[in-house]
Amino acid sequence: MEKIIDETQQGNSLVLEQKAENTRKLFIESYGCQMNFSDSEIVASILSENGFNTTQNLEDADLVLVNTCSIRDKAEQTVRKRLEKYNAVKRQGNPNMKVGVLGCMAERLKSKFLEEEKIVDLVVGPDAYKDLPNLLAEVEDGREAINVILSKEETYGDISPVRLNTNGVTAFVSITRGCDNMCTFCVVPFTRGRERSRDPQSIIEEINDLANKGYKEVTLLGQNVDSYLWYGGGLKKDFEKATDMQKATAVSFAKLLELCAQAQPKMRFRFSTSNPQDMTLDVIETMAKYQNICKYIHLPVQSGSNRILKAMNRQHTREEYFEMIDNIRRIIPDCAISQDMITGFPTETEEDHQDTLSLMAYVKYDFGFMFAYSERPGTLAERKLEDDIPEATKKRRLQEIIQLQQEHSHYRTQQHLGKIEEVLIEKASKKSDAHWSGRNSQNTVVVFPKGPYKPGDFVNVKITDCTTATLIGEAVGCSNNN
Ligand code: SAH
Ligand code: F3S
Repeated sequence: MEKIIDETQQGNSLVLEQKAENTRKLFIESYGCQMNFSDSEIVASILSENGFNTTQNLEDADLVLVNTCSIRDKAEQTVRKRLEKYNAVKRQGNPNMKVGVLGCMAERLKSKFLEEEKIVDLVVGPDAYKDLPNLLAEVEDGREAINVILSKEETYGDISPVRLNTNGVTAFVSITRGCDNMCTFCVVPFTRGRERSRDPQSIIEEINDLANKGYKEVTLLGQNVDSYLWYGGGLKKDFEKATDMQKATAVSFAKLLELCAQAQPKMRFRFSTSNPQDMTLDVIETMAKYQNICKYIHLPVQSGSNRILKAMNRQHTREEYFEMIDNIRRIIPDCAISQDMITGFPTETEEDHQDTLSLMAYVKYDFGFMFAYSERPGTLAERKLEDDIPEATKKRRLQEIIQLQQEHSHYRTQQHLGKIEEVLIEKASKKSDAHWSGRNSQNTVVVFPKGPYKPGDFVNVKITDCTTATLIGEAVGCSNNN
């Protein structure tokens, strides 16, 4: 299952094609959300134009970059441990190695990083990657370098990311950066800045280029994709100051989805993440209209209690969320829906927790991603509310919602039994080399005996069996989408 934070991907380092003229070696690894993995490809592209080839050996690296996540304390601790590892390697035989921190922790901690972690030479926030060549020149002259300026315009629309350790079938394309929603628990608005959208023309060009290279599925990425709005550049919050002409020709997320679906009718499109307060009916209607837009919506809700939703500044009620769910089910009956949930937000009572369980029972999500509340410095919740729910209570509530989600996932998975579904083959199954693994439109993983098919083929698969989260089937022929 692909998701914002894919545990199997954490800490993967990138390998790119080697250029003969490049003499220095870059080791780059990423933590956190898909946007970070995507950004690391942009960073690697910039550095490959500046003398660096990638390596997977820390011991050989001239430069080590770690793209970091701040979403929960645990994510930051993981990165601190990696810095200790780099330090050990540097001391034991690679004394000239330089270390840079990228991404959300760089933005959150800024120059504090240089003080707290002696190993760090370079600190670069998510909007400053184009400045890397200059910053590296400083570092080579023996100075520490930092750029954590957040931008109003930067979308990296003009950099075509190199994609190498991928399956060659599915790719991610960023469409917005930053987030303006200011959920009170969330550090993202502080680390990734204000929300801005990327020029649709550059998005379509990247998609066309991916199609030419044989890719078959694109996931449009953003912290809050439904809020996408292009009116010639600039921040979302400045849209009201746009000219009448700009307003009349603005491109919304529904329109962008349609442009993508029409530009490459044989390609599948997904998107992540949707925010209930920003998702509009026209997005659901566009999904229904185009067969090549996958029938899956990741729609985080965080809590089922109106009181907690308000304290989280989620801008919608439980009832409004149900209305959205009802609309999705009415317009796209076979749509899969998933959630993110937080347990133990400050002041959460047993009754609030029961509201979360009952909300889940109403929706019966296909998938879910659940977390215990982790207080983040600088957020409104940290400044205004005491982190008053004991760790043990957070964990117990978390266990209860995970348990319920497993039941629902199992229920949803079973609904596919006996059906014939189109699957895009991505790779060999992890468990068996005789099986292919791919996903149906609803994003459920499907495995089936290989037969004459290959990765990148759209195959109709009869679903014969399932585990909690995986479907098992037999291919019955190619889909006419190939
Ligand atoms: N809109 C973003 C959300 C990013 S954070 C997106 O692209 O998905 C991903 C999830 O992490 C959130 O939906 C939330 O459930 C969880 N999360 C965020 N801040 C958190 C915190 N302080 N403690 C625990 N979980 C948190
Ligand atoms: Fe965070 Fe809320 Fe935006 S969870 S990324 S502030 S929609």
